Amino acid sequence: MKRLIICLLGILGSLGYVEAENIEISTPHTSLLLSYETGGALKWVYYGNKLSETDIRSMKSGQWDAYPVYGLNTPSETALSVRHADGNMTLQLEVCEVESSSQDDAELFKVLLKDKVYPLHVTLYYKAYHDVDMIETWAEYSHQEKGEVLLNQFASAYLPIRRGDVWLSSLYGSWANEARLVQEPLLPGMKIVKNKDGVRNSHTAHAEVMFSLDGQPRENEGRVIGAALCYSGNYKLRIDTDESEYHHFFAGINEENSTYRLKADEVFRTPELALTYSEEGLSGCSRNFHRWARTHKLANGDQLRKILLNSWEGVYFKIDEEKMEQMMADIASMGGELFVMDDGWFGDKYPRNTDRSSLGDWMVNEKKLPSGINHLIDEAKGKGIKFGIWIEPEMANLKSELYEMHPDWVLKAKGRDVVTGRGGTQVVLDLANPEVQDFVFGVVDTLMTRYPEIDYIKWDANMSILNHGSGYLGAEEQSRMYIDYHRGLENVCQRIRRKYPKLTIQACASGGGRVNYGLLPYFDEFWVSDNTDALQRIYMQWGTSYFFPAIAMASHISASPNHQTFRTVPLKYRIDVAMSGRLGMEIQPQDMTESEKELYRKAIAEYKEIRPVVQQGDIYRLVSPYDKLGVASLMYVSPKKDEAVFYWWKMEHFHNQHLPRVKMAGLEPETYYRIHELNRIDKQPLDCEGQVFSGAYLMSNGLELPYNHLVDRTEKNEYASRVLRLEKVD
Ligand code: DGJ
Repeated sequence: MKRLIICLLGILGSLGYVEAENIEISTPHTSLLLSYETGGALKWVYYGNKLSETDIRSMKSGQWDAYPVYGLNTPSETALSVRHADGNMTLQLEVCEVESSSQDDAELFKVLLKDKVYPLHVTLYYKAYHDVDMIETWAEYSHQEKGEVLLNQFASAYLPIRRGDVWLSSLYGSWANEARLVQEPLLPGMKIVKNKDGVRNSHTAHAEVMFSLDGQPRENEGRVIGAALCYSGNYKLRIDTDESEYHHFFAGINEENSTYRLKADEVFRTPELALTYSEEGLSGCSRNFHRWARTHKLANGDQLRKILLNSWEGVYFKIDEEKMEQMMADIASMGGELFVMDDGWFGDKYPRNTDRSSLGDWMVNEKKLPSGINHLIDEAKGKGIKFGIWIEPEMANLKSELYEMHPDWVLKAKGRDVVTGRGGTQVVLDLANPEVQDFVFGVVDTLMTRYPEIDYIKWDANMSILNHGSGYLGAEEQSRMYIDYHRGLENVCQRIRRKYPKLTIQACASGGGRVNYGLLPYFDEFWVSDNTDALQRIYMQWGTSYFFPAIAMASHISASPNHQTFRTVPLKYRIDVAMSGRLGMEIQPQDMTESEKELYRKAIAEYKEIRPVVQQGDIYRLVSPYDKLGVASLMYVSPKKDEAVFYWWKMEHFHNQHLPRVKMAGLEPETYYRIHELNRIDKQPLDCEGQVFSGAYLMSNGLELPYNHLVDRTEKNEYASRVLRLEKVD
């Protein structure tokens, strides 16, 4: 149902009667309040806890434009700046119309604005979810000028944030060290969080941030605003702290080298910025992001994920039929549910034996797999597990049949040599080109048509755009390359999802390079990092959990010493860390001892018990590894609060050290919970094993946990970790 709130332009104004109107955009517990006057600008008034009608009536119209534009207040930061067809650089927007309509899951508000002089229109959208505290906002521009309008700056949204010891939490990192948490006070000047990779956008920084409004960030207390830009391409988040009482937050596509020439009647739509607010600290904000993800922003977010073995760290490129069969038999015998054959299975003229060839040639290498993929699928079926496969469909190698046939499909500046990436020969396909889009869609479609029982695809992307140039786009359109690449990618993803909605697809990009809500609606999960070292994963998964739920975080147990850090970490600790996300394995089971296999078997069986709580529960982060207290801890609590899983990992080891006792959170104070330790290796049970405690006691006191494991002297090491299951006692 569509409702026209008001169509003011000129009507009330002509009667000499001008009164501000409010637009109240509400979710179950939050309100965003905007206001406007006849023929005037749209103003931001408030964002925070849900307002009462009395509060709203008493509030004055806001000081800040809800969507600042460039031209008539030039020193300020702006969301939109254009050059009109006649060269004029200014904008002045007035509200024409406000509509709201009810959708199944949300209320959609549409504010139509128009330039006072030029036929240029801006429509601002606000989508307020009914079932979760999340508001998505984005903008659309169009015009009927004589000629093209240049979009120089085109942010999705702007939010003023009241000053007063506001702290920013954001994620930064690099390959194999993704999603490191940074927390800093917002100081005068400009803070920029950005990406210019072209293909992947979450290795070095993330397009999501949280603002703690009441001083130093706290996990379970305090007011926090969270923001996530839902875009798979280059982005820029700006926080300008000027002389005013507010920090000015802008988020959108990174406009650098991306000036957009908007034709008459063409509609340019920005990606969405998702906003949430919580008074339960950073963890509260995370819970909002996670609920929204599971219900609205993640493919198949309501389905539990399978426990899998991925072949990469087990055999790397050395794929052959025998090894695949053996790995499938092993994971099946340990209780796993899915096997994924990683890189190395394809290429005919150029077999994929290293990373220097074959991308693009998505046919089975018959020397390695003489009986083909159907045979592997049958083998998997015979063992009661599913089969998955790795692809990297946006890429080619110079040494490939694809490149020989279509050298023009590669991104490359005219008149210049190609610039190569991984293996010295990798190149990026030009997804701006519809023919390339068809090809990339065809990679998945052909696999799924030939082998309809493929259950899982690992979609990788291991290269940045290093060479600005599209052979498809005209000379005038080259600055659209980054934007059109991601439009092309989204188009392909939409086609895949329309045809294969239930297929599980992992977003991998040299690890965690594609962890963003722009892409996740098409993917079921993501690979957090190529670094599988359990100790370092605690830091990376901690940061990732700020915005992304455990159900989407692929977290695999790998070999020791670890292949990336060469750290030797005991199996118990590796299991206890991997079990806090979507559990999997990244190892050659053949190299494991029988007693190790037994521990895996037990862990897989126990994970199945706690999987609904981990994958669909609410996160409460308790002690941060970044606080360097010697321990890190978090827990998941079921929505009904009748079950919980508590994780405790010792982060460093000193003799007679003093670790804090960890207070739990998120439980029902009046409810009693029985404690059971999972993955136990100690000779004796913990003192709390089988005991019953009230939620109140666990949250105000916590449990005393021994710092070491009670095992034979020969098995002792510096690591210790605990996973406790809590179940409500009636
Ligand atoms: C990079 C991925 O992140 C790895 O997991 C693996 O799939 C390799 N690519 C394969 O080339």
